[in-house]
Order: sequence, then C-alpha cells, then structure tokens
Amino acid sequence: MTAFTTFDKIAVLGTGVLGSQIIFQAAYHGKEVYAFDAFAEALEALPKRWEWIRAGYKEDFGDDYDAQRFDEAIERIHPTSDLAEAVGDADLVIEAVPEDLDLKKKVWKEVGEKAADKTLFATNTSSLLPSDFADASGHPEKFVTIHYANRIWKQNTAEVMGTSKSSQEAIDGALQYAEETGMVPVHVRKEVPGYILNSLLIPWLKAGAALYVNGVANPEEIDRTWRTATGNRRGPFQAYDLVGFGVASHVARASGDPAQVRFADMLQESLDAGHSGIASGRGFYTYDADGNPTGAVKDWELPEE
Ligand SMILES: NC(=O)c1ccc[n+]([C@@H]2O[C@H](COP(=O)([O-])OP(=O)(O)OC[C@H]3O[C@@H](n4cnc5c(N)ncnc54)[C@H](O)[C@@H]3O)[C@@H](O)[C@H]2O)c1
Repeated sequence: MTAFTTFDKIAVLGTGVLGSQIIFQAAYHGKEVYAFDAFAEALEALPKRWEWIRAGYKEDFGDDYDAQRFDEAIERIHPTSDLAEAVGDADLVIEAVPEDLDLKKKVWKEVGEKAADKTLFATNTSSLLPSDFADASGHPEKFVTIHYANRIWKQNTAEVMGTSKSSQEAIDGALQYAEETGMVPVHVRKEVPGYILNSLLIPWLKAGAALYVNGVANPEEIDRTWRTATGNRRGPFQAYDLVGFGVASHVARASGDPAQVRFADMLQESLDAGHSGIASGRGFYTYDADGNPTGAVKDWELPEE
C-alpha cells in the first residue's frame, strides 16, 4: 500500500466559505495550492476572501500577524477552472464542494479519473459519511476526511476519519498533513455522522432554530441568553452567520423535521436575497468589512402579539 508522506502540491476543490480557508491555510504553511472551482464568480471572489481571512489573522494573532508571510502565501495560490490542471500532479486533493451527495459523487468520479496514484483523497464533508461517496473516486482505500472548522487558522482542529476501506497509510498521511499545516490533528477512530465537533454542535444549532421557528424568542434574545448564562462568545444565530446559510439550510432541510425545514426555507429566502451570513456582510446580524457585527437584522424579529 502506498505511503503518503510528501505534501508539496495541494488541490482544493470548491473555493467557498471553507474551501478558501483550507486553500489559505495550506499556502500559509508553504504549500503550492491549486484552487479549483466550477464557477468563475467564485474564483473572482477569492481576493475578497483573502482580505476577510487577513482581518481574521489580525484580530486573532495581533502582534504576531505577519503581513509579508500573508502576502507570500497568496502568491502560492493558483486559481483554476481546469480540474485536470488542479489535480493532475497533486499530492493531496481536499474537496470542499457543497454538501450534496450526488454532486460529491460526480466530482469524486472525475477526480478519480484525473488524479495520479500518489494522490491522497480527502473530503471536508460536514454531515455526510465518507463511505457514502468514497467508492465514486475509484480508490476508497486512499479516501479519508480532513474535516475543518470555520476560522481554521484559530479554531484549528482537523478531524481525520476513515471508512472501513481506508488504509492506515491514508489515515497517517492525512494526520501528518494536518500537523504540517498548523492544525491540531484529531483521529476520529470510528465512522460517525458529524464527527466529534458536529455531533455536539448540530443539536445545539437545531435547538436554537426550533426555539425561534416555534415563536419562543428572537434570534438576538436566544444568542444573548446563551452568551450571558454560559460565558461563551457566540449564540446559535451568530454561529449560523459564521457557518454560512448555504451549508446551514442543507443541514436543516436534510433533517426532515418540520420546524427545521421551515427554518431552511427562511434561510433560503435570505440566500435568494443575497444574504448568506458573515461572508456576505449580512445574516441574522449585519457586519462591517472586517466581519465585526454592527447590529441585529430587524427582519428576523417575531411579529408582536
Ligand atoms: N461552512 C462551514 O462552516 C463548514 C465547516 C466544515 C465543513 N464544511 C463543508 O465544506 C464543504 C463546503 O462548504 P462551504 O461552506 O465552503 O460551501 P460554499 O457553498 O461556501 O462553497 C462551495 C463552493 O463549491 C463550488 N462548487 C459548486 N459546485 C462545484 C463543482 N462541481 N466543482 C467545484 N466547485 C464547485 C461553489 O462555487 C462554491 O464556491 C461542505 O461539504 C460543507 O459541509 C463547511
């Protein structure tokens, strides 16, 4: 079985909320990164993504923020809409396309046809199981997850989870890559929907949505209660803004629960109006150019009795 020990060239598929952060994290740690997206607008939006990440670095690293290192990382990123160019010579492919099983299968089938034997395959899926679509790649033995959390430079866990078909070499390679790129590697030893992080996080988010959809309290009130009573920095609706409404609506709809589906419809309406959370400057709250909240959006408030 091939060992995966060299990670110089990385391909990241999907350059959205998480993909852009995965790309930057790799480049910041010296990797050459091919940033592939199927949509030109997504590639064109990358310079804006780097500035959002830069603001996060400044906020989280303070005096340790290194402008030169940041700019040099951008130079190592090669945006492309050509999948063969992205994956053809990659040591590792990390997929971060939308959370849609058929789409993931389609993308991985194409990657399997275009990638070399040396290439390790990883998905960043949040709520699907890697075994649901590892076979589509044609190489389930070298297919694992590297699951990141939002604001990956700071909240830097990398959950590496294999399937019953993953080789030990593939797991070891992914753990090594995580370590090389400034992450805290977490080996999830058994395939489980939602890994460790989302097994805890998603029920909490859903509980927040249910309180709101059932008319118990406004998003801002729910968040304030949570922050005040627990000392945590963010309530569930602040977390929804951070996660992004695209992923959040997929997850809520997929649950099939009527309250969650109603919530997914509301998120979709907001998405259709161009508001997807922090990344677009507006979700449940509005944000300035540096991603700092500037107030709650009144449209979300429950009607007065
Ligand atoms: N948002 C989060 O907090 C978060 C956290 C961990 C994991 N994830 C996972 O990461 C993945 C991506 O989530 P996201 O939030 O970045 O989504 P997103 O919608 O922000 O980005 C998805 C990107 O994929 C692109 N895309 C669509 N079809 C494509 C295709 N066929 N080939 C290549 N690119 C394509 C889109 O243009 C977009 O740029 C999902 O599997 C999600 O579950 C998200």
